[in-house]
Amino acid sequence: MNKSLFFKYFFPLLIWMLIIIIISISIDFVLHFFQLAWIGRYLGSFGTVLIAISFVYSIRKRELFKSGSPKTFLMLHEYLSLVGAVLILVHAGIHYNGHLAWLATIMLLLNVASGIIGKSILRNAAKRLK
Ligand code: HEM
Repeated sequence: MNKSLFFKYFFPLLIWMLIIIIISISIDFVLHFFQLAWIGRYLGSFGTVLIAISFVYSIRKRELFKSGSPKTFLMLHEYLSLVGAVLILVHAGIHYNGHLAWLATIMLLLNVASGIIGKSILRNAAKRLK
């Protein structure tokens, strides 16, 4: 793989994905340790709501309302969807009894990965323009 492509896109992606997975496993571990694993049942819905709220960025980008800067809403999209994804991963845990659950988790991870790559592309494009 081209060296600069590796450092620009693949390496940050790897680090972010590792951080997300380690944080999810740690939260799941703590919940199980304190016998609070039942909380995980509700984290799925909560994470989904956070990701849905993060789409306010799309509405702002299309100027359906004009208050606030698009940059701030993009940051909101990034952070809310990262936190939402972690909560959904904790909810999923490793209790998979069917193909659909695995598929949903893989799709979520692919979504997050594409967002992280998109973030790197935007950052590098802004640097090149400067
Ligand atoms: C469940 C996870 C995610 C979903 C479903 C999702 C979905 C989307 C969608 C639908 C758009 C298009 C917005 C539009 O044009 O209306 C978008 C854009 C974008 N997302 Fe995400 N995203 C997710 C996670 C992330 C994460 C984790 C990041 C970064 C850390 C991220 C960064 C971006 C960036 C940089 C754009 C492009 C903004 C632009 O050029 O307008 N996303 N995302």
